[in-house]
Amino acid sequence: MDLAPKRAAESATEMVQVVLPNDANPLGFILGGTVMHLIDIAGAIACHRHTRSLLVTAAVDDLQFLHSIKVGDLIILKSRVTCVFTTSLEVQVAVYSEETLTGRRQLTSRAFLTFVAIDRDGNRVKVPPLLVETDDERRVCEDAQARRAARLRRKSEVEKSEV
Ligand SMILES: CC(C)(COP(=O)(O)OP(=O)(O)OC[C@H]1O[C@@H](n2cnc3c(N)ncnc32)[C@H](O)[C@@H]1OP(=O)(O)O)[C@@H](O)C(=O)NCCC(=O)NCCS
Repeated sequence: MDLAPKRAAESATEMVQVVLPNDANPLGFILGGTVMHLIDIAGAIACHRHTRSLLVTAAVDDLQFLHSIKVGDLIILKSRVTCVFTTSLEVQVAVYSEETLTGRRQLTSRAFLTFVAIDRDGNRVKVPPLLVETDDERRVCEDAQARRAARLRRKSEVEKSEV
């Protein structure tokens, strides 16, 4: 794999789609599960662009749905790699609704996902480092490191509680 460092801007991704009746509950709002699926896809695309490898989703941090998104609105998902570790990386996905007739945009969810790079035999593979150039990017990566530590603590709690 090419392990040349990359900037977050090189893999940042924006996905836009219209909410159709098939995506919605009987009230005409997009299903939470559909939003979660799109978050996974948007996060994976940014991580694939960064790593150019196969990936599995290892973790999705807690998810809030701040506003509903109705049929006919646009759903916009912006994903950006926040920090890269050894074989894993974190990506942030921000979800917005946009009213097609007014252009009114609202943040509806924000999620952090961790993906692990693997080869075709399922072995972990190293991922290219992230070029961190600005104070803001450094802060984002430091925050991601703190989230990673908390996430791994939670993982080990879940493993211990396994029946
Ligand atoms: C994710 C998975 C590959 C981790 O395997 P593992 O043997 O427990 O992990 P390892 O100890 O080899 O760690 C590999 C890397 O993943 C990271 N990692 C593993 N589990 C993690 C978790 N729950 N959250 C965040 N990072 C995690 C480790 O920190 C390590 O990162 P690093 O190399 O950058 O330091 C494995 O549990 C798996 O295949 N899970 C199923 C994935 C899947 O099918 N997802 C789809 C939805 S079910």
